[in-house]
Amino acid sequence: MTDTTKPAGQDTGRDAGQEAGKDRVVIFDTTLRDGEQSPGATMTHDEKLEIAELLDDMGVDIIEAGFPIASEGDFRAVKEIAERSKNAVICGLARAQLPDIDLCWEAVKHAGQPRIHTFIGTSPLHRAIPNLTMDEMAERIEQTVSHARNLCDNVQWSPMDATRTEWDYLCRVIEIAIKAGATTINIPDTVGYTEPGESADLIRRLIATVPGADEVVFATHCHNDLGMATANALAAVAGGARQIECTINGLGERAGNTALEEVVMALKVRGDVMPYYTDIDTKKIMHISRRVATVSGFPVQFNKAIVGKNAFAHESGIHQDGMLKNAETFEIMRPEDVGLKSSSLPLGKHSGRAALRAKLGELGVEVGDNQLKDIFVRFKDLADRKKEVFDDDILALVTATTDGDAERLQMVNLKVVCGTGGPAEATLEMEIDGEDRSASCQGDGPVDATFKAVRELHPNKARLQLYQVHAVTEGTDAQATVSVRLEEDGMIATGQSADTDTVVASARAYINALNRLLVRREKTGTDVKEISYKDVT
Ligand code: KIV
Ligand code: ZN
Repeated sequence: MTDTTKPAGQDTGRDAGQEAGKDRVVIFDTTLRDGEQSPGATMTHDEKLEIAELLDDMGVDIIEAGFPIASEGDFRAVKEIAERSKNAVICGLARAQLPDIDLCWEAVKHAGQPRIHTFIGTSPLHRAIPNLTMDEMAERIEQTVSHARNLCDNVQWSPMDATRTEWDYLCRVIEIAIKAGATTINIPDTVGYTEPGESADLIRRLIATVPGADEVVFATHCHNDLGMATANALAAVAGGARQIECTINGLGERAGNTALEEVVMALKVRGDVMPYYTDIDTKKIMHISRRVATVSGFPVQFNKAIVGKNAFAHESGIHQDGMLKNAETFEIMRPEDVGLKSSSLPLGKHSGRAALRAKLGELGVEVGDNQLKDIFVRFKDLADRKKEVFDDDILALVTATTDGDAERLQMVNLKVVCGTGGPAEATLEMEIDGEDRSASCQGDGPVDATFKAVRELHPNKARLQLYQVHAVTEGTDAQATVSVRLEEDGMIATGQSADTDTVVASARAYINALNRLLVRREKTGTDVKEISYKDVT
């Protein structure tokens, strides 16, 4: 093990590309840790592996794969992501405790390029949680960072709530962490409190003041509580940070984190005033954005920058006129730059399996043979009911099918009678562990009656946290995508489905969520204690 700290950008595991006269900014993605921590955004093991692979393929430099001490599931996911990693550094999060750091190392050490990220809350409010004096905390930082560095050459340290930490104390603890062997110092704006001027200034002053600061990489980690996460991250780069921490779609607790797609595209489009570049393949942005929205169950708002459904839509007459004359009239980037294909021909009921496979390839979707079979059956069914099947319809079908384990609960048939002046009645037939069963229930509307029938056939105490319906395309024959989020004994699962019949899509989404709860329970056991990174003791 060498004893050298590594200069900016050199501990990322990638060959740094170069752009004349520009500095490289390293992209640290924490979708699978800070993003997944967002209540309700829980992903399954296989989904985490898939997202990690997409992040690696798109050129993310460092993937924060999870928080290994949080649960057995988190540990397994980080370990497997580390084992499968290709180019990216794989990082795990650990509290300032020796057993946390040891377990984190056990999970990440399998990566070609492992990193341990350890942190402690340094602001007055956060210091009060473990009830440590300033000196005791400084000692703990020295001890834990040295311990991490003895295990791993690549150590990141974060003073949580840095932007509300006293200046002198912040300088003192950063100096201690650098001396103890940290190679990256991350400055979190944990509660999204800072603003761009302050963000740039803080990094600039820290680099100018703290001894040893020029030997480490400074990182910025911003939350979006005041809607300034992207601006704050870019300002921090202007102040000297060379690592941006971010998530796909800005996923994350409360208002989320800095959105990867926003900082990456801002640096690409405004390289004239921000002389920095990243190694992200921006054409892969749209696909990963859709996958993260699907697996997390957090849809992207229509007018979200870069990846929102309307981000490149120009509907008003004056815009359309300008666009037809010259696309640059209203577009500062091309849809193709983020992987949006200019709308291609829709499929119809005469399209065969080869056309469907080609379309999936065009949309950047890879599916296994079983899933393709399932998608094809649903596509044919949809094409019989809907004249034109658009790209978004196909993507909704992909979301509604799985390539994973056989599902224990399956819907066979659903009949609903409803109207004005009385309760709705749903008659549902399901296959449960291979056995056919049916039930009829009344409810306050068709969805309520259907969900009651599911509960009658598969009694459970899962609480409905979210029920969301979206139309995929325009028209009364549009498919509806439905998301259902359930919570049972602290475990959360999101199910999704799509159909031209909203009630059928709702039933399937509900059953899909129940199947996911069953899988999670089988894989992790109900007695696993899940801890939060905020339980700092
Ligand atoms: O927001 C935060 O402070 C964090 C730390 C664990 C880096 O996510
Ligand atoms: Zn955070």
